[in-house]
Amino acid sequence: MSLAPLITVLGIHHVGIVVADLNAASERYRRLGFRLLETLDMPEQGVRIAAFAAGRDYLELLTPLDMESGVARFLAARGDGVHHVAYAVPDLATALRRLDAAGYELIDREPRVGLHGWRVAFIHPRSCHGVLTELVEVAPASE
Ligand code: CO
Repeated sequence: MSLAPLITVLGIHHVGIVVADLNAASERYRRLGFRLLETLDMPEQGVRIAAFAAGRDYLELLTPLDMESGVARFLAARGDGVHHVAYAVPDLATALRRLDAAGYELIDREPRVGLHGWRVAFIHPRSCHGVLTELVEVAPASE
């Protein structure tokens, strides 16, 4: 017997990649066909992000602004590479409540405002087989 899914996942929203050299990586991914939307600092998280689009989907390149950030520790330990995968969900608050009740280890128990004003929340890699997982709220009708 298998249990019903806890939440609805509409698709992959974006992939986050940590890089040591944001300028070089941005040029590399631009040449690969991604369209640069903006580069911005999120000092509260200690990161600079280059946000790209491809079709309806996104790519984030992240580099540390300070050596205390989680991204800096990731880079020091593992070098450039995939940092997190984000999935689109229709109702983030409900999703978090259900995941919490089912024992998933949430980094954010409430939605917070991320890049571009998106409502986002992170699930600990321990609960997702080693992958830092982000949920992004997307209105299904607005796609
Ligand atoms: Co992200």
